[in-house]
Amino acid sequence: MLNDTLARPDSTEDMPVGHPDPLTELHEQMSDLRRELNRCRRMAALGELVGTTTHEFNNVLTTIINFAKMGLRNSDNATREKAFQKILTAGQRAAQITNAVLGMARNRSSDPEPTDLRPIVSETLMLLEREMKNYRIEVITELCEGPRAMACGNQIQQVLMNLLVNARQAMPNGGTLWVRLQHDDVAGLVDLTVRDSGTGIPAEQLPSIFEPYFSTKRGPDESGKGGTGLGLSACKEIIESHRGKIRVQSTVGKGTAFTIRLPVAPPLGET
Ligand SMILES: Nc1ncnc2c1ncn2[C@@H]1O[C@H](COP(=O)(O)OP(=O)(O)OP(=O)(O)O)[C@@H](O)[C@H]1O
Ligand SMILES: [Mg+2]
Repeated sequence: MLNDTLARPDSTEDMPVGHPDPLTELHEQMSDLRRELNRCRRMAALGELVGTTTHEFNNVLTTIINFAKMGLRNSDNATREKAFQKILTAGQRAAQITNAVLGMARNRSSDPEPTDLRPIVSETLMLLEREMKNYRIEVITELCEGPRAMACGNQIQQVLMNLLVNARQAMPNGGTLWVRLQHDDVAGLVDLTVRDSGTGIPAEQLPSIFEPYFSTKRGPDESGKGGTGLGLSACKEIIESHRGKIRVQSTVGKGTAFTIRLPVAPPLGET
């Protein structure tokens, strides 16, 4: 942290009266810049989310329009029945997408509160369902019922989105993605693991991946995602502000697993 590297002077007796101490001024400027950087990260995450959601919604609308046209062109019962079925399925998916967006709007609190992570995980996966299918990635989930975590839903969704997009980008030729939500009763933690069967991370790069701007990507991919090197540093900052932990295990050629561990929310009445 930049803040920690600048020691404050013990005394300010040489300072002219009425002039702010230059180090104090520098500290203030740095906190302003850090706040601004965090705001930009939040906006970028929101932009990515809106992009993904709009894209998904558009896909659903295209399906609905095409099958409605098919039903109108063909008068035989079998074709119309099929068209109605497709329209119904697509309409249900559209409802899921709007529910996920409304869910995000509801989880706006910036203070951690008792939060069930399961709907957040399922909604985020639902938004990325088509993207994963396009890249031939099989998604296996294990979302155990357990206590709620002390968390800001939106921020955890931002972290999860980052981890899932990284995992997808590590499997350009397809693979398997495992998402597991568990509860560690003894440690009083909720664990969320995202594991992929992708390229893996070389041991010499592992210490750098959480540093801001560290990236091995050449820029955004064809879906417009990745490449700034801010994803994991934002994840780490968010998880640490929750007093949680983020851990990584990786083997080159086999895959990578990120685990976030968040404190369990106190029982009702103690919050
Ligand atoms: N699941 C993963 N498999 C392999 N490498 C990964 C994985 N997740 C992260 N990395 C490595 O860590 C680097 C940093 O990741 P990070 O998410 O911070 O940035 P990025 O994905 O490059 O860009 P962005 O900020 O746009 O997300 C990546 O460039 C990549 O080299
Ligand atoms: Mg990333």
